[in-house]
Amino acid sequence: MDQQKILFVDDEEQIRRLLSSFLSRRGYAVTTAVDGQQALEMLETETPDMVITDVNMPNVDGVELTRRLRADPRLGHLPIIMLSAKVQTDEILAGYAEGADEYVPKPIEMRVLAAKVESLLRRMVQPAAPAAPAPTPIVPAPEPPAKQVIVFLHGKGGVGTTTLAVNVGVALATTAGRRISLLDLDLPYGNAATMLGLPVEHTLADLADGPGGQVSGESLAELTQLHRSGVRLLTGCDGPERAASVGGLLVRWAIERTLEVSDVVLIDTSTWWSEATMAALAGATTVCVVTTPRFVAMKATASCLAALDRLGFSGEHARLVVNNTASRGMKPQDVARRLARQIDLTVPYLATFADAARVLRPLDRGQTDEVGAIVARDLASRVVSFAA
Ligand SMILES: Nc1ncnc2c1ncn2[C@@H]1O[C@H](COP(=O)(O)OP(=O)(O)OP(=O)(O)O)[C@@H](O)[C@H]1O
Ligand SMILES: [Mg+2]
Repeated sequence: MDQQKILFVDDEEQIRRLLSSFLSRRGYAVTTAVDGQQALEMLETETPDMVITDVNMPNVDGVELTRRLRADPRLGHLPIIMLSAKVQTDEILAGYAEGADEYVPKPIEMRVLAAKVESLLRRMVQPAAPAAPAPTPIVPAPEPPAKQVIVFLHGKGGVGTTTLAVNVGVALATTAGRRISLLDLDLPYGNAATMLGLPVEHTLADLADGPGGQVSGESLAELTQLHRSGVRLLTGCDGPERAASVGGLLVRWAIERTLEVSDVVLIDTSTWWSEATMAALAGATTVCVVTTPRFVAMKATASCLAALDRLGFSGEHARLVVNNTASRGMKPQDVARRLARQIDLTVPYLATFADAARVLRPLDRGQTDEVGAIVARDLASRVVSFAA
C-alpha cells in the first residue's frame, strides 16, 4: 500500500521535528507547515490523507484552518486531529464545532495520538474512492437496529476472536449505555470468563444435563454472570467432554431469552462448526469472520467465508475482520486479493491486546485515553454499525 500522507501544522519547530520523526517511524509520509496559512498554500498542490494541527498559531490558527478545510469541496473530507496546550472545554468545543474529528491535548501522549491517527485513517479507507469528494451528508447516518446478535467466527484458531468479542462487549457496555450480553459458545475450550476475570460456576451444559431437559427463563438467569463493566456473560460449557451435550435447540432458546434482556448479544465460537455454532448463525444479524493476515490462516478463513456464502450470508451480513495479533503480516491488499474480499475492519497489533486481560482494565476504570481502550471503543462502534 502507498504510504499514507499526513500534513502536520504547528508553529513550534521542536514539536514539528519530534512528531514528524515519530509518525515517520510508524510508516507515514509526513510534511509540515508552520501555520495555517502555509498549510493552506501547501494544500493547493498536494492532498494528504490527514491533517494534524495545533490550535494556537499565528496568521491562520487551527480552528480557522479546520473551518476552511471543511468548507472546501476538494478537502472537506480530510480527517483532522487538533492539538492544543490549553486543555479548555471551550477550545475543544470550538474545534469540534468547526469539524475536527479528534482532539489530543498537549503535552502529547504519543501512543494516544498514534491510536487516533490509525483509527481515523482506517475509518477513511473506502473500497472504491469516489471520483469527487462526497458532499457533507445532510441526512444522519442510519442507526444500527435496536437489537443485534453478532457472531464472531474464525477458521483458524488463535486469531484473536475471543479477545475481540470480549473487548467489544466491555467497550459497548462502558460507553454506549446499552445492555450487552456475551455468550461463550466455544464449548470445548471457552475462555471468555477467564478474560473477564469471572469464575465459571454454571453453564448451559448444566441445563442440557438437567432433569428432562427442563429449562426456564429463571434457570438461564442463574447461569448469567454480571461483569463489573455491565456485560452479562453466559458460558456454554465448562469442559470438552460435555461440549456435545449443548445442542442447537438449547442454544437457540438461550439466544432468544438473552435477547429479551439485552440490546446486543455477542457470541464467541470455536473453530468447529458445532450445532451450537449453526444455531448462533441462524439467529445472527452480523457475522464477523476474524483472521490474522498470515498465510497459515488464509485457507481456513477462505473456507469459512465460502461456507457463509453457501448459507446465504451476504457481504453485508458476513464481515471480514483482519486482526494483527503480531506486528508483522501480509499486506492488506494481499489478504483482500487472496480472499477475494474487501476487508471490513482491521485491528492493529497492540501490546495491550497481546495480554487480553489488560485492555479491560482501562476500559473498566474509564481510562478512555489508554490506547487499547481507544481501539476497543472504535472497534465496538464499527462492529455494531455493520448492521446499520
Ligand atoms: N490485536 C491484537 N494484538 C496483539 N495480540 C492480540 C491481538 N488480538 C489477540 N491477541 C492475542 O492473541 C492471542 C489469541 O487470542 P484469542 O484467544 O482471543 O484467539 P481465538 O481466536 O479466540 O483463539 P481460539 O481459537 O483458541 O479460541 C491472545 O494471546 C491474545 O491476547
Ligand atoms: Mg477463542
